[in-house]
Amino acid sequence: MINLAPSILSADFSKLGEDIRKLDNSNIKIVHIDIMDGMFVPNISFGVPIIKSIRPLTKMIFDVHLMIENPSRYIEEFVKSGADIITVHYESDKHIDRTLNYIKSFGVKAGVAINPATPVSVLKNIIGLLDMVLIMSVNPGYGGQKYIEYASEKISEVKEMSLSVNPDLMIEVDGGINCNTIAKVVNAGANVIVAGSAVFKDGKITENIKELEELI
Ligand code: DX5
Ligand code: ZN
Repeated sequence: MINLAPSILSADFSKLGEDIRKLDNSNIKIVHIDIMDGMFVPNISFGVPIIKSIRPLTKMIFDVHLMIENPSRYIEEFVKSGADIITVHYESDKHIDRTLNYIKSFGVKAGVAINPATPVSVLKNIIGLLDMVLIMSVNPGYGGQKYIEYASEKISEVKEMSLSVNPDLMIEVDGGINCNTIAKVVNAGANVIVAGSAVFKDGKITENIKELEELI
């Protein structure tokens, strides 16, 4: 099962509720929610109140991607806001094993994201603990960047690593996914495909989703 996970970073925030309903009506199962703190990444996006305000609108899975320093400080707040999956960056936390177990202690799913320059080998000891691995295919911080080609190889490596230890692992890819790049990440083994600008382009959400899903 391959899921397209639209990133609301590229939504029109003046009518976010409407955009969420459009995703729901297009049968989207997972919404990707990008949290940026202006420290771990150069940009600031939005925080807990936004998640809280859209939570009552939908039953879609809220996949919260934390691009923040020392994410363990905020896990409980994001759980309370309605997150279903919480992903922290390997590079943002000195005690990633502890943080993953902490996330899981709330009964939500736990993921680890790795930046383009971080090798897949860092996942070796924790892959059995994880519900999701997020391979960044751009340097995090902004939507609308170009896909970094070597990410495809990393997706295949994670797929290979997961087969014996954790065959149900969600393998997510994030950054630069559009009609030209989606097929190769699926072929490499990704099963949760984040797309921001490609989904919200020109406000044609329904049409854009259809076009992307036809290529999966
Ligand atoms: C980048 C974010 C992405 C972003 C993707 O730091 O993590 O989720 O929204 O945007 P596109 O699909 O436009 O590259
Ligand atoms: Zn993201």
